[in-house]
Amino acid sequence: MAQRILVAYGSIAGSTAEVAQAVADEMRSGGAQVDLQSVEAVKDLGDYDAVVVGTAVRMFHILGKTRRFLRRHRRALGERPAAYFLVCLAMGEESPENISKAEGYAKPMIAARAPVSLGLFGGCINHDNLTDFFGRSMKSVPEQDHRDWDKIRAWARETLPKLVASDQ
Ligand SMILES: Cc1cc2nc3c(=O)[nH]c(=O)nc-3n(C[C@H](O)[C@H](O)[C@H](O)COP(=O)(O)O)c2cc1C
Repeated sequence: MAQRILVAYGSIAGSTAEVAQAVADEMRSGGAQVDLQSVEAVKDLGDYDAVVVGTAVRMFHILGKTRRFLRRHRRALGERPAAYFLVCLAMGEESPENISKAEGYAKPMIAARAPVSLGLFGGCINHDNLTDFFGRSMKSVPEQDHRDWDKIRAWARETLPKLVASDQ
């Protein structure tokens, strides 16, 4: 039977949601049965065999709603394999310093449950989507999109067998 996977994402301006969609599509192509939901919409982890959690970063931290998701589902996460990905501007340039900065952002996720894989992806600034209070303050930052769709899809392809093979 196909592996049932939940891809849950924390996004404010929509770019992480689009990355999550690409991850879900790629895992479906790999034969998994995948549901895609925002972290705030997930009620429980039910009978999912594995979970992928993706989140945007703001003000040097993963989103509060992603932290709340990890807290709320901590026990259930501990009972099934999990993979994580981050979407942030720091990964717009993949220097060792930026990779270690992004790994630092992921620490609270890793502390909640060690992942089988951690994807670190460049983020996006699209002024039209920065409609919230803090987002509007970033309108002085030029529009940019560092999402590397080949890298994102490759990560999803490589992560799927790890989620399936892992017994924890
Ligand atoms: C208000 C604000 C604060 C941000 N702070 C950071 C940050 O501290 N570090 C970083 O690497 N990226 C930061 N970013 C970039 C976001 O992580 C990036 O725009 C991401 O693609 C947003 O995801 P979303 O569209 O799903 O909300 C920030 C963006 C905004 C709008």
